[in-house]
Amino acid sequence: MRFHCKKCKFPAKLKSETNLCDAICPKCKHPLNLSEDERMFGAYELIQALGSGGFGTVFKVRESCERSLYTLKLIRKSRVSKAEKVHLLRQVHSSRRLQHSNVVASHDFGEQEEYWYLISDYVDGLPLDRWAQKVSPEPMRSLELCAQIGDVLDYIHQQRFVHRDLKPGNIIVDRNGEPHIIDFGLCKSEEDSDLMAIERYRAARRAIRSKKTIAENSMLGTLGYAAPEQLSGSALSANPRSDIYALGVILYELITGKRPAMGLGRLFNGFAVSAMLRRSKVPPSTAKQLRNLCLQAFSPKDTKRHANAGVFSNECRALLGSTKRSDA
Ligand SMILES: Nc1ncnc2c1ncn2[C@@H]1O[C@H](COP(=O)(O)OP(=O)(O)O)[C@@H](O)[C@H]1O
Ligand SMILES: [Mg+2]
Repeated sequence: MRFHCKKCKFPAKLKSETNLCDAICPKCKHPLNLSEDERMFGAYELIQALGSGGFGTVFKVRESCERSLYTLKLIRKSRVSKAEKVHLLRQVHSSRRLQHSNVVASHDFGEQEEYWYLISDYVDGLPLDRWAQKVSPEPMRSLELCAQIGDVLDYIHQQRFVHRDLKPGNIIVDRNGEPHIIDFGLCKSEEDSDLMAIERYRAARRAIRSKKTIAENSMLGTLGYAAPEQLSGSALSANPRSDIYALGVILYELITGKRPAMGLGRLFNGFAVSAMLRRSKVPPSTAKQLRNLCLQAFSPKDTKRHANAGVFSNECRALLGSTKRSDA
């Protein structure tokens, strides 16, 4: 959403974390002095710009009568294809069926003026990447967090959903250090035959246009976190283990500060984790198991990964337990 500067008339796009009350024009640096009316979107008062991603801008908002906080995702209709509208609808649709305190619920989807909008619960915290920069977690703290994320994934998978876009920007760590999964726009459900049919139709149409195969055109997710099966062929059949892959990458990144180098393979990535764990003074036997857990989770072949997210979390907890015992 753009607000016009009253001085230079520049349509100002607000940067993440800008409070609407003290926003300034990025061009002439004059305060935007937005009136209460200008800060309203229907019944919602815009408080802060939280971020803008692939699909539009997300604001922290307050409902005027309830005073509760929510997020509002705003997408200009002229910039949204039918497919992107499907992604938005999907968030509400999946949210109705996923009832978990660590899955952020979406409540309302609609259109107003030139926008599509989506209202979801607000989590007071930081996206995982920014949380990690701020907190610099010890490897064992990262492991604990990933075990919690694994529990939430396990729940999502048991409801027969696959998130398909798990990445640090889609995990918010709240003030108590608990992770919450957001952004179910690419989420797939085994039971969504209507949505899956639309997706197949889109892939087929793009394939005809670009003279490539459906598989080559159906990559969904984010490079760096998307599993090989999402990248190279069968995105339409991405499975729960594709989310485990992303979680493995996240754990590796939390420990080493970098994403695994896929081209360099298991040996190099294993060496990088071990080196970092040695520096953090993790006992050698735990370090070896933690390295193996990480490498197994992002194995290129899905059948080599953990059988399910529950198994991944249990292995994390076994390791956490053994370190606690060796500390005692
Ligand atoms: N429920 C929420 N609570 C707190 N911050 C949020 C929430 N939802 C989104 N955000 C912030 O907005 C950013 C973009 O939101 P997201 O739903 O992932 O949109 P996109 O589809 O553009 O990726 C997130 O990375 C996060 O910083
Ligand atoms: Mg996102």
